[in-house]
Order: sequence, then C-alpha cells, then structure tokens
Amino acid sequence: MTQISPLLILSLILIIIIPPSAVALSNYEVLDVSASLSKALQVFSNSDDLDLVQEAQQLQPLSSSSSSFSVTLHPRSSLHRHHRNNNYTSLTLSRLARDAARVHSILSKHSRAAAALSKPQQLESPLISGAKQGSGEYFARIGVGRPAKDSLMVIDTGSDVTWLQCQPCSNCYDQTNPIFNPSSSSTYKPLNCQSDKCSSLQVSACRRTNTCLYQVSYGDGSYTVGDFATETISFASSGGSVDNIALGCGHDNQGLFAASDGLLGLGRGALSLPSQIKATSFSYCLVNRDSTSSSTLEFNSAHPSDSVLAPLLKNSLISTFHYVGLTGISVGGRPVDIPASLFEIGNGRGGVIVDSGTAVTRLRTEVYNLVRDSFARLVQNLPSAGDFSLFDTCYDLSSMTTARVPTVSFQFSGGKTLPLPPTNYLIPVDNAGKFCFAFAGTSGQLSIIGNAQQQGTRVSYDLANNYIGFSPNKC
Ligand SMILES: *[C@@H]1O[C@H](CO)[C@@H](O)[C@H](O)[C@H]1NC(C)=O
Repeated sequence: MTQISPLLILSLILIIIIPPSAVALSNYEVLDVSASLSKALQVFSNSDDLDLVQEAQQLQPLSSSSSSFSVTLHPRSSLHRHHRNNNYTSLTLSRLARDAARVHSILSKHSRAAAALSKPQQLESPLISGAKQGSGEYFARIGVGRPAKDSLMVIDTGSDVTWLQCQPCSNCYDQTNPIFNPSSSSTYKPLNCQSDKCSSLQVSACRRTNTCLYQVSYGDGSYTVGDFATETISFASSGGSVDNIALGCGHDNQGLFAASDGLLGLGRGALSLPSQIKATSFSYCLVNRDSTSSSTLEFNSAHPSDSVLAPLLKNSLISTFHYVGLTGISVGGRPVDIPASLFEIGNGRGGVIVDSGTAVTRLRTEVYNLVRDSFARLVQNLPSAGDFSLFDTCYDLSSMTTARVPTVSFQFSGGKTLPLPPTNYLIPVDNAGKFCFAFAGTSGQLSIIGNAQQQGTRVSYDLANNYIGFSPNKC
C-alpha cells in the first residue's frame, strides 16, 4: 500500500480551493452570448404594444412635498414597435444615428453655455437638420391639468424645461394620446412676461397680451415653441399632484419624440421638474432597451443601501447637467493609465455627465483610445469583426454561447468602484452574433455616461446631499 503524504493532500486541497488561474479569472467575466442575443431579439416579439389607456392609474392627493412617490417608466421599444422586418442591424443603425444626434445636441448646448451667453436670447426660427431623429429613449407617465390628462413623457436628465404638445397645433408630430387641450383644464394659467419663471428661460419672447412664449431647440433638429404656463402635474400610483408647475404648452413641435406627448425635464436647472417640486432626490432604473417591461422613476426616496456612491458635481457655467466625479476607468481589473485631469470640469468645458438620453457612453478621444486599447489587448480568443457605425471594436461571437471578456469598471472620487455587467459594454448589433464594445470617442472635453452602461441599474440623484448612487439589479 502506498502511503499518501499529508503534504500531498494539503496541496491537492489548495489546488481545489485556489485554481492556478484564479487571479487571472477575477479580471474577466463571462458574457452569456446566447442570452444577450435572444434578449435583444425579443424586441421583435409579437407581444402587444403597451396599452396606454389601460395603464392609467388612480391619482391621490400628495400629502407633503417631501414624501416619496413614483411613476412608471417604459423603454422606447415598448412604445414604438414598427419594425417592419426583424432586422436588428437596421434597428441598431437607426438607434445609433439617433444617439449621434443626441450627443450633438448635448455638445452644442454645452458649447453655447461655455461661450457664456449672458443675455437671454430671443425666439428665432429653429435649426432643422436632415436627421429628424428626435431625442429620448425612456418614457414616464404623468398626469397634466385638472382633470388630469394621462401623458407619456420622454425623460431627459440633460434638459430642464418640461413641455407637451398643445392644441391648437400649428405643427405637431404624431403622438399616441390625444393632444392636450389647455381650454379643457381648469388649472391652466399662462405666465406673464415679468414672472421669474419666464425670465429663467434661456429663449423667450412676449406676446402682445403680455404672456410668455418659450422655445427649446435640441440641436438635433428637434424643437418646441409655445406658451409658457403653469399647470397641475400629478403622479400616478403612489403619487399625488402639485400645482403651479411651469411648463411649455407647445403649439409648434418638431422631432420624433417617439409617440410621446412631450418631455419631462430632469436637469439641475431652476425650471426642471425636480427643482420646481423641490425634490431632495430622484432615481430611475432603465430596463433593457429591447424589453417591454417597465420600471419606475421615483422622487424623494432613499437610495438602495448597496449603491456605489459618487459625488454629484456642479459646473458654474451650465446648471442643467448632472456631473459625476469620475476619476478613472479600470479594464481587466487594472486602472487604465489616464491622467485624472482628463475627467475634470476644469474651466467648465470638461467633466463627465450622467445622461438618461444618450445611449452609448462617450469618452473624450484620448481617454477612449486608451480604454479601447486596454480592452482589445486583454481580449483572448474572440474573433475580431471590424467596426459598426460609431463602434470601432467588434467581435464575431456567433459560434459561442458564452464569452470570457475583460471586466470594465468606473472609479469615482471618494474611492468607490462601479463594476459594469458585461452586457452593458459588449452589446449585440445584428441578428447573427456580432457584438461591439459599447463606448465611443468624442471630440471636445466633455464625457457622457450613457444609458447602455446604466441598464439594469438604479441611478439615484441625491440633489440635497450631492451624490449619485448606482445600485445593480434594482429595476
Ligand atoms: C438588414 O439591414 C442592413 C442595414 O440596413 C442591410 O444591409 C441588410 O442587408 C439587412 N439584412 C436583411 C437580412 O434584410
């Protein structure tokens, strides 16, 4: 009989507990290719479109302005399913074209602010580009007026003014609900030109009747012009109603804001909805872009206890955007060697914003190139598949059910790290199994954390204490 040495047993146990590749493995994660692709292609499934009427909920009085309440939130795909063919390539191309228009609109707003326009502008005829792609990927349901009219609004953390299409229309895009008629609401009141709210507008004018006109242009060809008024807004489900919210009653509206009634401004400026209702915080969870499920937009609720916290910063040049204290990006468990100054707001032209309307995270070109190179260098045994639209790093995963991919995480000042799920940075772009690294470079100094990277995450904006929380799996 052979004697088994205790040392051998010990090393066998150690090998079982700590496999030799353990250190390397922790820098990689498994992407479930089949699940990710079939989830994406669900967008073509025959499930019914969202029933807008059926979802209307009871409205209750709001007990106090600091109590928490929520409204439902839907992805664009659940409202806008006219995909004639089941071609995920063309769907992705149109999304990315829309996304490029969105980023263009953010950058143009940012550069106008950086140019420090001190005097308010006057109404002018809006610029219309060829790409009438429109903004917005997620929609919230609120009530407007009294009696409350159920309205589906694009949520936008990158702008302040809330507006909806209004009768009489000189120019309205197609929307699903009937168009709001201010004369059938008892709480509709036009604002006069001397009001603070009218003066807070970036672009305004005065009617002969001394009532205030507003205009918002989104830089991507989308715009809205009309009367600036106050109305009652109500929040379904747990909510209530708030009187005297300044909003735009748009008689001339252009852009494909999908089938929505208008837009809910969730920026940081004085006219945004959170500012007007004096919300201490708001949060949303963005369900997968291809799903028909919904989640919630919440106000005044505490962030989930497992949230990764990052400082919420202000830029004195532009009050609208939500800046986050990003200090670094790690790939494969190692920080990419990026000078921290490339993330700083600096003279007002730099910084990193978190945006609900931008899909793909944009990093300033120097940063993007370093991150992309680190990722591509660490990828093992995934066949390269060239580029796709604004993506330059793609892989052919058609023959795989799972893929081992380098981890990607954000580092924030304060020391916290947010690991991204692989499905949030390696995303399918066609029906066959081509996946792309879902980041892109952008000229200029501003970086934008987009909604592809926020999917499945509850993002909490604590406006009272100035931090942003990211909590995984809270939709
Ligand atoms: C899908 O759309 C793309 C781009 O529009 C096109 O090039 C391709 O031929 C289409 N594929 C099918 C199977 O229709």
